[in-house]
Amino acid sequence: MKTKTLSIKYEIYDSPEEMSEEDRELIKAAEEAQRTSYAPYSKFNVGAAIRLDNGLVIKGSNQENAASPDGLCAERTAMFAASAAYPDNAMVSMAISGGYGFKMDDMPCTPCGSCRQVMAEYQNKSGVPMSVIMAGKKQIWKFFKVEDILPFIFNSLETE
Ligand code: THU
Repeated sequence: MKTKTLSIKYEIYDSPEEMSEEDRELIKAAEEAQRTSYAPYSKFNVGAAIRLDNGLVIKGSNQENAASPDGLCAERTAMFAASAAYPDNAMVSMAISGGYGFKMDDMPCTPCGSCRQVMAEYQNKSGVPMSVIMAGKKQIWKFFKVEDILPFIFNSLETE
């Protein structure tokens, strides 16, 4: 029997001011996207912004439905929009802003498992690491690749 321990490197910032111009812009775009959230049922508003390798920023927000499984998270809304419009461009980073009342919460909004699996799909497709910035008013967490937030990821391409 062996025991292994995984360690994950991520960065914690107190404010976007400590981050690069590109990351600051992406967080701002995620906050803007949060205002377009349609969440009359949970009242929890989420916005996501993705930077493509051509520099374009694609936004998405959570969209709910009276038949609850028919809605979609902000992250997947943004990724599907990005992939549908720019299928040949890698998604190099994503910022997420979530909270009630269309405002960013103090602590970072962490993406659900399904969104992480979809991030993995597009990262595998492009071969380019996607960094994920989970933004909160008091703390911002930056991860550098999807494996770091989804260890032991399922990747059918690798098991073939
Ligand atoms: N939600 C997101 O859009 N992204 C997340 O990272 C967490 C959850 C949405 C789904 C649902 O519309 C609402 O937030 C409450 O779960």
